[in-house]
Amino acid sequence: MSKNASDTPAPNAQLTDKALNKRVNALLAKMTLEEKVGQLVQFSSGTPTGPGTGRESYDAMIADGEVGSLLNVADPKKANAFQHIAMEKSRLHIPLMFGLDVIHGYKTIFPVPLGLASSFDPALVQQTARMAAQEASADGIRWVFSPMVDIARDARWGRIIEGSGESPFLGAAMARAYVHGYQGTSLSNPDSVAACVKHFAAYGAVIAGRDYNAVDMSDLTLRQVYLPPYQAAVDAGATTVMSSFNSLNSVPATADPYTLTDILRKEWNFDGLVVSDWNAVGELIGHGVALNNTTAAQKAIVAGLDMDMESGAYHERLAALVRTGAVPESTIDEAVRRVLRVKFALGIFDHPYVDENAKPYQPTPEKRALARKAAEESIVLLQNNAGEGQPKLLPLTAHVRTIALIGPLADSQYEMLGSWGAQGNPADAITLRAALEQRVQAHGGKVIYAEGTRILTASQAGFDAAKQAAQQADVVVMALGEDAPTMTGEAGSRAHLDLPGNQQQLLQAIVATGKPVVLVVFSGRPLVLDWASEHVPAILEAWYPGMEAGAALANILFGDTNPSAKLPVSFPRAVGQEPLYLAQFPTGRPATGVDLSHPPTNGVEKYVSRYIDVPNSPLYPFGHGLSYTQFDYSPVTLSATSIPLAKLMNTPNQGTTQPAIEATTTVRNTGAVTGTEIVQLYIRIRGASVEEPVRVLEGFQRVTLQPGESKQVTFPLGFSELSFINARSQRVVEPVDYTVFIGGSSQATGSAVFHVVP
Ligand code: NOJ
Repeated sequence: MSKNASDTPAPNAQLTDKALNKRVNALLAKMTLEEKVGQLVQFSSGTPTGPGTGRESYDAMIADGEVGSLLNVADPKKANAFQHIAMEKSRLHIPLMFGLDVIHGYKTIFPVPLGLASSFDPALVQQTARMAAQEASADGIRWVFSPMVDIARDARWGRIIEGSGESPFLGAAMARAYVHGYQGTSLSNPDSVAACVKHFAAYGAVIAGRDYNAVDMSDLTLRQVYLPPYQAAVDAGATTVMSSFNSLNSVPATADPYTLTDILRKEWNFDGLVVSDWNAVGELIGHGVALNNTTAAQKAIVAGLDMDMESGAYHERLAALVRTGAVPESTIDEAVRRVLRVKFALGIFDHPYVDENAKPYQPTPEKRALARKAAEESIVLLQNNAGEGQPKLLPLTAHVRTIALIGPLADSQYEMLGSWGAQGNPADAITLRAALEQRVQAHGGKVIYAEGTRILTASQAGFDAAKQAAQQADVVVMALGEDAPTMTGEAGSRAHLDLPGNQQQLLQAIVATGKPVVLVVFSGRPLVLDWASEHVPAILEAWYPGMEAGAALANILFGDTNPSAKLPVSFPRAVGQEPLYLAQFPTGRPATGVDLSHPPTNGVEKYVSRYIDVPNSPLYPFGHGLSYTQFDYSPVTLSATSIPLAKLMNTPNQGTTQPAIEATTTVRNTGAVTGTEIVQLYIRIRGASVEEPVRVLEGFQRVTLQPGESKQVTFPLGFSELSFINARSQRVVEPVDYTVFIGGSSQATGSAVFHVVP
């Protein structure tokens, strides 16, 4: 069901263009069955991004029209060589389409997507995707496997790094931004690339956060929480979708007619192509729903899966399945149409080659400026305490002459790029060490660097040198965290969420020197930072900031840039709280106001929904992030206290696009420096036919204010924000009470109530 109120239009008008479809049908009429199947086959050439299949040479297959697309070709010369075979040797001269995982930049590497989401700045994200599209298309790549819009609420899952976090509202905003950035104003522009929304569907909810595991959830939760970002991307015109590895309610997504056909095609009117994930058609055998490649191919194509990435099942079996009557040829024809539509829309029939002699990539000042802005907007100031009678530790002042910089992530260019670094060159990345040394030395100060430890080692051999460095310094900056390639991203699930290796011991040893410590955490997920939160005055969550990591961090540490980022995911106190997220359902036995002693003391009620050993609340909640200034909010006001249901609805199943009510507050910068606040709006619904979460994000705006300046911020609310999924999977509004909260985090206290009346 669309969260948009209007009748769902054809999401991408370019794919439904009449002239284009005439060309598609004319070509289809000339194709043999084998040539049709060829368009549905994708193989990898280059560095594999999944388990190897041993296949290497594609020249003969391409000449025979047996391959429609290649992934992992990231070299214009190679792309052109393959394309020459397709265009000159294959009977119908159908060009190949080259796809690649361009996730957070191609050569200019931006923060990882979870970092970009922390910016709450879709316009910025769109700019990063545009730059990535320009760079990738210059190498012949016209298809990127991004955006990854899987809602992720379990920090154990390594792929939480690749998406925009736990909120469907934020996720949908980011999904649209990526699609617009990649696809530009028209797909046929040579610097536009087809976006691929992934992983459809609900991959982020794998049980216990273990990658590739099953997903089991109600249809209500699927539609309320997990589907909105995919649908937002489709509505924004995304031309391709990738199915996910997981099963959803016992049906593997690669062969799920409910998601691939009923929802995607029939409800959302998606006209583009669906590609499987790597080898996922073949993996239907592992899932136990197919006995061999024949039944795997049959189940997938019939369910609505158009292109087989890498498994070879379509290549080997699809033609025979049609000949035996097990798969109707019309099913193949429709899948081929979807592939050809995208190829025609991209203009690659008319311009199949890429300029091999284009100017080589340079990380120009313009590219670095965007990468730095993105990094600065993505780094979250988690806490910033003052010592006894001291000012807050950050920003560092000019009095800081000697800084000890300690930790395994202080000087690794490679790690700064994070997982899925595409064609990013680590040599282009600026580390914290490089940036701090340059800056501090220019002011006559000194940086004493000590690695202290490696990310994964039991050795404490470096501890003494690190302690000595700390003892000589005015302040210590520690750069700790996860190893990007092995601990984050695909196949990077963790059962522990602490600082890996002996970094926690190193942190404790340095804190024990008594020197003030700033902890900079590089990670692909929320870590458990409970000890640090009590013993370290200042903590920054840097994620993996990309190419300009060090420069951005130095600007924030010294206050040239005032941090503005907010958390797109909740940070737990203990791994046992996972999955942990803001939009929890209420319970009949809430744990408000209980103490944590066990057994409960002081007459505290025992029979409440809580852990006996840790509070229910996160350590750092969704939407949290500090600034070097403070913002004050006036009470929330509403344009009405009650609105008639009819104002939200056109017909029983369709909402209006008009806002029905406005919520307003005035935000004031009460501190001494200019700052950007991300003003957030949350709602709670009571009295509905179904239980509704305790708080859900339904709006945000970025506001930059000078000291003393104030600004009125208004949020229009309509069907899109106020509707919800009922027990029969319908998106509805009902006569209910809404509480609207507005503030600088999900803990916002300012609120107002209105009613929807029949
Ligand atoms: C597997 C990953 O799940 C997917 O995100 C990626 O696009 C493909 N491999 C291709 O590399």
